[in-house]
Amino acid sequence: VRKPTPEDKFSFGLWTVGWNAQDTFGSATRPWLDPVRSVHELAELGASHVTFHDDDVVPFGSDDTERERILDAFRKALSDTGVTVEMVTTNTFSHPIFKDGAFTSNDRRVRRYALRKILRNVDLAASLDASTFVMWGGREGYEYDSAKDLKAAHDRYAEGIDTVAAYIKEKGYGLRIALEPKPNEPRGDILLPTIGHAIALIDTLENGDIVGLNPEVGHEQMAGLNYTYGIAQALWANKLFHIDLNGQKSIKYDQDLVFGHGELFSAFATVDLIENGFPGGGPTYDGPRHFDYKPSRTEDEQGVWDSAAANMATYILLKERAAAFRADPEVQAALETAGVLSLSQPTLNEGESIADFLADTSAYEDVDVDAVGARGFGFVKLNQLALEHLLGAR
Ligand code: GCO
Ligand code: MN
Ligand code: MN
Ligand code: MN
Repeated sequence: VRKPTPEDKFSFGLWTVGWNAQDTFGSATRPWLDPVRSVHELAELGASHVTFHDDDVVPFGSDDTERERILDAFRKALSDTGVTVEMVTTNTFSHPIFKDGAFTSNDRRVRRYALRKILRNVDLAASLDASTFVMWGGREGYEYDSAKDLKAAHDRYAEGIDTVAAYIKEKGYGLRIALEPKPNEPRGDILLPTIGHAIALIDTLENGDIVGLNPEVGHEQMAGLNYTYGIAQALWANKLFHIDLNGQKSIKYDQDLVFGHGELFSAFATVDLIENGFPGGGPTYDGPRHFDYKPSRTEDEQGVWDSAAANMATYILLKERAAAFRADPEVQAALETAGVLSLSQPTLNEGESIADFLADTSAYEDVDVDAVGARGFGFVKLNQLALEHLLGAR
């Protein structure tokens, strides 16, 4: 597999490789890694960008002097390696103060504290020239239906996001907010569980023009949904601001496997959409290819770097396979047969009124429904061509 280049736009969360591998059932199997170290190692492997939560770099509770000292060392690692920060996010889930959420905690003191923590981090994100500010509402949720006024929770969620967006505009920062949906874990139910839920909330915001999405592969799959479909709708709505790539095997706990180590065929479709766009054209995704995975608890430090490299290698392989898929004349013919390309044609004629349409007997009265119903689409053949490209058999 070829080595990643800056054109690949690969990016990693510092909390991914840095993770100490502690889970609910057992203690850490590795030490937390120093972000400075991670930046150097990731640069060596070919990544161009990193992302982080405030607390990944500056431990929660550090005073201002300590914070500046740590940030100086971090900025030096960036300038030494040429790695840039493309996205920043805020930890509003680890400390006990956030146990009932941040923007939607039933305790107003927590909501105000969270908003301050986030605005402070927006300043940091802007100072590092990041372009995206992610909000994963990890603890914005509940376990018991009686515990949350869900109408008020949506009001407070919208209020929080709108306030941050207004602050970004007021300051003239070049940042956009990207909401990250997840159905559950760590809460029994999380608000805005899927891409569709989040888009619907964004539509109600005053400053929704700078609010979009950061969908994660595993999060949609945890809800039994199709990730490629989800990012397709976000693209269609011009709301795909960022992506979290990883692997998940069906509806279960959040696995955060290496990209492609979960639903591989689905990962192929995802890369095909990201790299090659919709078959009939339309909005495309131009942002970083960002990995939000976890090196499995079984891995030692070598395993951490092997798994980081695996994300990029898998993406590159899928990108090559997807390019070959689109370039194959047999695939083009199969797409034609399947009608994939003709779906771009509007259903009504240009300038056709509803009255004209109702008067068109060829649209209804004269249709030979059995003949039209007898058409074969050849979707299986098309899918087999995709599979053969994925396996490198063509
Ligand atoms: C998770 C989430 C997080 C977020 C991160 C950025 O399931 O733990 O995916 O990793 O992406 O907090 O906001
Ligand atoms: Mn996940
Ligand atoms: Mn995740
Ligand atoms: Mn994520």
